[in-house]
Amino acid sequence: MLGSARWCLLLCLRQALAWQPWCTQTWQNCSSVRKCCDLSAACYEMDGTWATCMKTPCETGIHGKDPDPIRNRTNWTCRELLPEYGDQCRPGFVEDLTNGVKGCVRPTEPPLMTFYMYRATDWKKVPLSEGINAANAPGLMYYLHNEVAGHCPRKFGITRVIRYKVTTRATKELYADAQKNFGLFLQFDAAQCTNPRCKLMIDKYGYIPGCTENPHSIANYGPLGKWYSLPGQCPFSRFWEKNQTCREEEPGGFCKYPPTGERDCTFSIDWQGEITMDELTGIWNYDWWCKQPEHNEYDKLTDKGTWTNFWDGIHDPGKDAWRLARFKNIFAGKYPQWPSDLGEPVCDGTWFEGDKPPKIQAG
Ligand SMILES: *[C@@H]1O[C@H](CO)[C@@H](O)[C@H](O)[C@H]1NC(C)=O
Ligand SMILES: *[C@@H]1O[C@H](CO)[C@@H](O)[C@H](O)[C@H]1NC(C)=O
Ligand SMILES: *[C@@H]1O[C@H](CO)[C@@H](O)[C@H](O)[C@H]1NC(C)=O
Ligand SMILES: *[C@@H]1O[C@H](CO)[C@@H](O)[C@H](O)[C@H]1NC(C)=O
Repeated sequence: MLGSARWCLLLCLRQALAWQPWCTQTWQNCSSVRKCCDLSAACYEMDGTWATCMKTPCETGIHGKDPDPIRNRTNWTCRELLPEYGDQCRPGFVEDLTNGVKGCVRPTEPPLMTFYMYRATDWKKVPLSEGINAANAPGLMYYLHNEVAGHCPRKFGITRVIRYKVTTRATKELYADAQKNFGLFLQFDAAQCTNPRCKLMIDKYGYIPGCTENPHSIANYGPLGKWYSLPGQCPFSRFWEKNQTCREEEPGGFCKYPPTGERDCTFSIDWQGEITMDELTGIWNYDWWCKQPEHNEYDKLTDKGTWTNFWDGIHDPGKDAWRLARFKNIFAGKYPQWPSDLGEPVCDGTWFEGDKPPKIQAG
């Protein structure tokens, strides 16, 4: 008895002394424990004395709104500190070893960023140069769940999800604006840009990729669902209205690898596998299946399907995580020759005055 108590005293004491939180909460000091508890946040450095987990992209310079009298007068380096020494910088950042502490910074020139985008579509060949929307994996699952699964036939006749390896480079006009790599997310319907800011955006920055983050109020795919826009030829006309004249006058941003960052060459796209909705949902004869009485893939009101439970529970983080893992695993299993993940760039889409959400800095 005594022996084991003494044993515990030693062991427990040693454990207690070595104890460290395994992650840092948002707005807390992450200088030493750099893993953020909120997986959609990252640890950004002010200087050698302070770094904090924040969700919004960090802007270098003075964070004047910070209530702390030191932090609101000190320039932020905004180096992203990585949890483990061996971790790689995300797309768009380069390694930096200031003061012997490894961090990731935005380079001075617009960088090439290579990462995966996913797009849900029917069987038709997709013209990639004419303006499309796409998503990261959680963003795609969010879209399928919230907008596609509840209809028979599925919205836009969607039958498959294509994965693209996309390489982007911001124009110098965009990168001059706080070193941003994305613009405002622009909605393309039948390849026509329907956002009222579209012309303003393109005139100011060129045909730049856009990005937006999905709210967690609708579905819990995460940590961060993102939607992307890749503006193409004749952005103001629909597929069938596009003609040679406008293709020449309004060329869009699609071009051969590597994109140069000219106003009409901001992204290139490579097919990198696809999966079918059947593979994902396990419903193998969907056209017949969804027409059977009482067969419903997903009903938003009950938050359930009938004769399938694949989509049950849109807000359930565990079920959403399971579906997302299944989605990724099917790609990984079909295409072992390609990495299943290429990292996530920061969604730093720019806004115009008036659209701009209030800047949240440390606090
Ligand atoms: C933040 O943490 C670092 C490393 O543990 C420490 O040196 C520094 O003093 C802390 N900063 C503040 C303001 O507490
Ligand atoms: C920084 O915060 C302190 C304390 O809240 C405040 O008194 C001061 O005016 C702030 N400084 C700036 C430059 O905003
Ligand atoms: C912050 O950085 C700017 C630009 O590099 C510089 O002009 C300014 O003096 C710096 N301010 C402080 C307080 O270091
Ligand atoms: C080509 O399309 C543009 C934009 O839709 C339209 O304004 C123009 O009249 C068309 N030109 C021809 C020759 O059809």
